[in-house]
Amino acid sequence: MNIDIRPTTTPRTRPTGALGFGIHFTDHLFRMDYVDGKGWVDARVEAYSGATLDPAASVLHYAQVVFEGLKAFRGADGGLRIFRADRHARRFARSCEKLCIPAIPEADVMEAIVRVVEQDASWVPDAPGALYIRPYVYATEAFLGVRPAKAYTFCVILSPVGAYYERGFAPVKIWVEREAVRAVKGGVGDAKTAANYAASLHAAFGAKKRGYDQVLWTDAISHEKIEEVGTMNLFVAFENEVVTPSLDGTILDGVTRDSVITLLKARGVNIVERPITLDEVKQGQKSGKLKEIFGSGTAAVVSPVGTLGFEDGDLTIGDGNPGPLALSLFDELTKIQRGDLPDPHGWVRRLEG
Ligand code: COI
Repeated sequence: MNIDIRPTTTPRTRPTGALGFGIHFTDHLFRMDYVDGKGWVDARVEAYSGATLDPAASVLHYAQVVFEGLKAFRGADGGLRIFRADRHARRFARSCEKLCIPAIPEADVMEAIVRVVEQDASWVPDAPGALYIRPYVYATEAFLGVRPAKAYTFCVILSPVGAYYERGFAPVKIWVEREAVRAVKGGVGDAKTAANYAASLHAAFGAKKRGYDQVLWTDAISHEKIEEVGTMNLFVAFENEVVTPSLDGTILDGVTRDSVITLLKARGVNIVERPITLDEVKQGQKSGKLKEIFGSGTAAVVSPVGTLGFEDGDLTIGDGNPGPLALSLFDELTKIQRGDLPDPHGWVRRLEG
């Protein structure tokens, strides 16, 4: 892919103090457009700026948009590393296909990411911060009929971030949602598309009002089986096995989920992908067989769950503190990401800058 580099002439003000999540954006972005009959054209790295969107653009009306979230890290050696861009590009391609968005070759998606990150390398914060990378593609055609659009824009924007949760590695409080539904089999629950997040807002807002950080989604039919948390896949550690819900089409095939499974397997832990019920969790807590619960995600990394909230009261997980598995996985994963531990699975790509 031929990428035109157009450096900015008006650098943005650098953030000072706590970075937060998704608040600050760097000097440049990657952008290219899809033109009917021509395909993807005009790949460029240019000054971070808004684009005009026709009021009839189909994305505004029918939500034809997909995105990804991955990270680049600054190591203690000063080196810049990007984590599992290939796997994110593959999932991006699958999401595009599901939303009838014209394919962007995975190699081009990766090149776009690498090129814009290298351009803004000086924005990658030191540990514990990271550069959150947000590739996304949306339908721009001005047309109100319901069919796949004929024009799109693909962008990659960059945001220097701190921890996703305001309270850092403190255990999160999760509301178990048994009325609202995020996704059903055969829907788009396994695609990283904006509509899934829009559909989650009302329940998440309700959970916040009750004092919880996020929502744990249950299956749409029985509301008995655990699915995923708002921005994380979930792992439940019992005495003899660690369980994570299987990929059945309703949950996201998390890249951090896959990384955690791989790390656990390498440790010889009995990690099982299977359906898991709320009753199993409650019984496990009663019998003492439930050891800990934690979530995994690019933004959240590995986050311990301290409390599950039900209509009839809270269930404290373990002793309510971060468990040893969550702590050690967080440590191992972040050290691999920063180059402080070897990378036996080939997840990390060293960049220039
Ligand atoms: C990520 O972890 O990259 C996510 O997609 C979460 C994001 C929606 C905040």
